[in-house]
Amino acid sequence: MFLKEHLLGVPEDVKTLILLVSEQAKKIRKGFLEHSRLAGTKNIYGEEQLELDKWADDIILKAMEESKLVRSVASEERDEITSIVKARGSWGITVDPLDGMSCVETNLSVGTIIGMFNEGNVLEPGNKMDAACFVLYGPLTTLTYAYKGWGCHEFVLDEQGNFVLRNESMKIPEGKIYGSGALRKDWIPQHKKYIEELEKQGYKLRFSGSFTADFNQVLHYGGLFTYPASTGSPSGKLRLLFEGNPMAFIAKEAGGNSFNGKKSILDVKPEILSQRVPIYIGDKKTIDLAKKFF
Ligand code: F6P
Ligand code: MN
Repeated sequence: MFLKEHLLGVPEDVKTLILLVSEQAKKIRKGFLEHSRLAGTKNIYGEEQLELDKWADDIILKAMEESKLVRSVASEERDEITSIVKARGSWGITVDPLDGMSCVETNLSVGTIIGMFNEGNVLEPGNKMDAACFVLYGPLTTLTYAYKGWGCHEFVLDEQGNFVLRNESMKIPEGKIYGSGALRKDWIPQHKKYIEELEKQGYKLRFSGSFTADFNQVLHYGGLFTYPASTGSPSGKLRLLFEGNPMAFIAKEAGGNSFNGKKSILDVKPEILSQRVPIYIGDKKTIDLAKKFF
C-alpha cells in the first residue's frame, strides 16, 4: 500500500501535509551529494550549519507556505516563528530539517523531524499535537508518521519514487538496547544509577549521534534513547519543540513512553522556541524503570 492510500484514514489536511513532507524528503535525499559542504554559519545553538541544513529548511518552509494550510512554522534553524499571513488553514508546524547533521560527513543516517498542531500555536505542550512524522535517510529512505489515536506507520521509498508501507501500527517491543548522550562524568547521579541498572540487566549500548536514527532503532527494537540532564547542562541538549515532542508523540502512538526526569515530555509547556529538555524515550517498561530513579 502507498502512503497516499494509507493517509485516506486521516483528515484531509494531515494527509496533504504529510504528502508534502514526503515530496520534500525526496528532494532532500537527492541533495546530499551536492549540498553537504559547510555553510560557514552557525545556528542559534552555536552549531555549525551545513549548506544542506539551510537548503532543506528553505524547501520545507516554502512547501508549507504554498500549501496554504499552515499559519506558522517554527524551525530549529531559525530564531523566530515564521508567520504565513496568506494561509487559509490554521496549522502550526515544527521542523528539524536535518537532524544529526554531524553524521553527514561520516555517512551515517540522518533525518527530518516534523510536528503538527492544528491550532496553529507551536508553543504548546506536545500533548496538543495532532500528528508528527520523521524521515530517515539511511540505506533506505523511510517515512514514519503518527496521527493522534491512529497509531504509527512506516513507509519506505521505492525506486519509482513511491513511499510503500513497510510496518503498520508499530508497537515498540520490550527491548534491551540503550543509547545515552552526554559525557558519563557529567551525568547527574539519578541518570548514572539508572544506566548502571540497565547495564546490569544486560542492556547493550548503541548510540550513533543522530537522534532520528537512534530513536528509530528504539521504535523497532525497544529499549531506551536518552539525552539526559548533565552537570553543565541541566536541560540536556535536545530541543523540546523540534526533537523531543514529535518523537515522544510518535513513541506514545506506538505504545511507548517518554519522560524528562519529572513527567512525560508531552506534558512540558514550552516557554521559548529554543527550549531544551532532558529526554528519555523508549518502551513502556524501560521508561517505567527510569521513573523509579528520579
Ligand atoms: O540535533 C542534535 C543532535 O545532532 C542529535 O541528533 C543527536 O542525538 C545529538 O545531537 C548528538 O549529540 P552529541 O554529539 O553530544 O552526542
Ligand atoms: Mn536535531
